[in-house]
Amino acid sequence: MCGIVGYIGEKQAAPILLESLSKLEYRGYDSAGVAVLDGGDINIVKAKGKLSCLAEKTDGGKNVAGTCGIGHTRWATHGEPSELNAHPHRNEGGTIVAVHNGIIENYIQQKSKLTRLGYTFYSDTDTEVATKIVDYYYKKYGDPLKAISNFILKVRGSYALAVMFSDHPDEIYAVRKDNPMIIGVTESESFLASDVPAILNYTRKVYYVGNEEIVCLKKGQADFFNLDGEKIQKQISNITWDAEKAEKGGYPHFMLKEIHEQPKVISDTLNCFIKNGEINLSEVGLTNKEIKKYSGIVIAACGSAYHVGVVMQYVFESLVRIPVRVELASEFRYRNPVMNKSQLFIVISQSGETADSLAALRLAKSAGLSTLAIVNVLGSTIAREANKVLYTKAGPEISVATTKAYSAQLIAGYVLALRFARVRKTASKEELKSLVAELSGLPEKVQSILDKKNSMQRFASSMAGKKDVFFIGRGVDYAICLEGSLKLKEISYIHSEAYAAGELKHGTISLIEDGTLVIGVLTQPDTIEKTASNLEETKTRGANVATLSFGSRKITGDVKFTIPQVNPYFAASLAVVPLQLFAYYVSVLRGNDVDKPRNLAKSVTVE
Ligand code: F6R
Repeated sequence: MCGIVGYIGEKQAAPILLESLSKLEYRGYDSAGVAVLDGGDINIVKAKGKLSCLAEKTDGGKNVAGTCGIGHTRWATHGEPSELNAHPHRNEGGTIVAVHNGIIENYIQQKSKLTRLGYTFYSDTDTEVATKIVDYYYKKYGDPLKAISNFILKVRGSYALAVMFSDHPDEIYAVRKDNPMIIGVTESESFLASDVPAILNYTRKVYYVGNEEIVCLKKGQADFFNLDGEKIQKQISNITWDAEKAEKGGYPHFMLKEIHEQPKVISDTLNCFIKNGEINLSEVGLTNKEIKKYSGIVIAACGSAYHVGVVMQYVFESLVRIPVRVELASEFRYRNPVMNKSQLFIVISQSGETADSLAALRLAKSAGLSTLAIVNVLGSTIAREANKVLYTKAGPEISVATTKAYSAQLIAGYVLALRFARVRKTASKEELKSLVAELSGLPEKVQSILDKKNSMQRFASSMAGKKDVFFIGRGVDYAICLEGSLKLKEISYIHSEAYAAGELKHGTISLIEDGTLVIGVLTQPDTIEKTASNLEETKTRGANVATLSFGSRKITGDVKFTIPQVNPYFAASLAVVPLQLFAYYVSVLRGNDVDKPRNLAKSVTVE
């Protein structure tokens, strides 16, 4: 997810672009850049790292002259974070520049086509390709509108694109499809941005750009056109809410926003790895030959990412019949573990910077294992150092407590397991087909759970005063408990434990007393009865019992939550959602700083 901005008016553009970009940093940042038109010259300045690096390089924008410009904060998707890959991108002569948010899906085909026509490329980005497509059609038709409408016809994917042409020094052109873009105007200025907060300091008069609408911005004027170049009339809106609220898309906290983004994140990640109804790992570069040769898998990760590993262990061992070891990276690195070169080492990390996970990866590499990283942040250290990378498509996660990145990691684990099962022939074609269909149905099911979030809010309000909470389950349910319990303790500060249900009576049951909350997760058909009996045991000792299940069997419980039926392998993707909501609402009720819980950091780059 990137952020784009544009300004044209009487004032110097660069300081305004930087200020506006600072309001979009929540969309992710690994590099930033601005391009400013001064007369007929376009000056581009880019910097790797946070926006502050760009601000430093340009003296807060003061040393980039001109009153018309575009800017960008990048969250890398194509090509590692670097100054070269940072936006704005330009054509050969630097007479056309563009910033882009989104993904051009057919950029490789378009790149080859342009290469055949004599174009060369300096970056790995789809945006440079987009810029050069516009360049090609601008040279052909000499008209920005025609160049952009041809761009729309040629590309597949999503985009919010802003373009400047040096021979149109008082104009910015923009277009969008399936990526946000708004236009703001005052008497003498016009603004463009990915999101409203970027321009709220300057205006509250906003146009929402529709899909495939082209905008031409002039000082204090915005003209809208359709694909045929015909002018269209747009309604202006007056923004009445405040900036902070807007960055969260109307949600009170990033965590709640990110919980609600999960259907999209799951479907974005699935779309990358399911092609024509089959799992396709060509993006990862894991060959069938490699998949066949591994004697086992070692997974290492920390926190929630480790919990994904625990789910993966159950799914892989059951579906692929390959031995899997899951390790806490912080323990693994100091244990002198026995490893075997024929094993595959998988490290899971949202940030790609977690110190312990990185150390575990280096240890596995030095022991000669093939390594695969499941990572969310493109170009992060773990992504760079692993032999292969599977990128999750969660987008930037702001809330310290992970939700959508965890969900995307689960999907990564499932697609890997299904591909292994296919190549190693441990599941029939029919079984795999039905599992792929189940995966494709997950976003809708997650959405249906979110639609009923009020029941979890009510439950949370009756439980927010608890001192101790236990989560119990077996198999995948135990893995779900680990995540549910971590979510609760890290943001509500309530003491909570996840227990493998069968372990309770080996000591822990002595902690159960009147009013202790015990949440049973019961999605795995083979163990439901067993866990249900363990819940009974706690109930007789005074516990308040709540259950989370598919609702297909009668289970004792004071409060029962049900989730849609799904293949039990994928239960974690659904069951985690009510538990995330539970933790969230309890934290809110207790007046905690939900997005920034005490003592915690988003990226743990120290031991
Ligand atoms: C919990 C949480 C942490 C992270 C852990 C690993 O909500 O976010 O437990 O999962 O610190 O971080 P990454 O995935 O960045 O390696």
